[in-house]
Amino acid sequence: MDARLARVLDDLHREGRAHDDPLADRLLRLRNMTPDAARLISTLIRARRATSVLEIGTSNGYSAIWFADALRDTGGRLTTVDIDADRVTAALANLERAGVLGYADVLHGDGADTLAATPDASVDLVVLDAERPAYVDYWPHLRRVLRPYGILAVDNAVSHRAQVAAFRELLASQHEFAVDLHEVGDGVLTGIRIR
Ligand SMILES: C[S@@+](CC[C@H](N)C(=O)[O-])C[C@H]1O[C@@H](n2cnc3c(N)ncnc32)[C@H](O)[C@@H]1O
Repeated sequence: MDARLARVLDDLHREGRAHDDPLADRLLRLRNMTPDAARLISTLIRARRATSVLEIGTSNGYSAIWFADALRDTGGRLTTVDIDADRVTAALANLERAGVLGYADVLHGDGADTLAATPDASVDLVVLDAERPAYVDYWPHLRRVLRPYGILAVDNAVSHRAQVAAFRELLASQHEFAVDLHEVGDGVLTGIRIR
């Protein structure tokens, strides 16, 4: 990771915490992933040599910068989508500031629509970091778009265990996925398509 990018990530992490801490309304918070969780998913991107990553829930682009940096190394590209237009504008500016905008498409829209429009077996890794109760409904498309050995990564699987429980059970019931819970940051649930 180059020094400029590391500095931007440090600044965004600090600014995100300062922004979120006084806000009682969850929806007004940026809710950036923890650095450890973003680092874990970046490692998976590099280890999998992923060239196509889809993130649902961009916020201001904090985690997207981590993923785009990993995709710069693999020769790949990130698609990240957020339903909030102001967050998309902020993310575009932050990815540019970090020097990784060239490795990402930042979309404004509903993640469900982006997933539905994604071609079959075209994605190496999907990150779910949006409204957790919707994930179960995403499942048919998640299964359809993931390539063999594709990876699903779900943030907040420990911090919001109850909200992720139904999706975790669904994933665990699929014999073609190897499922693990990583106690990193707010908890990252992974499912790797092994069959
Ligand atoms: C937890 S934050 C994402 C944090 C981001 N991944 C990061 O680490 O910087 C959740 C984001 O999901 C977005 N969101 C909520 N529902 C959505 C949907 N249906 N489609 C796309 N984005 C959605 C919100 O606007 C919010 O910015």
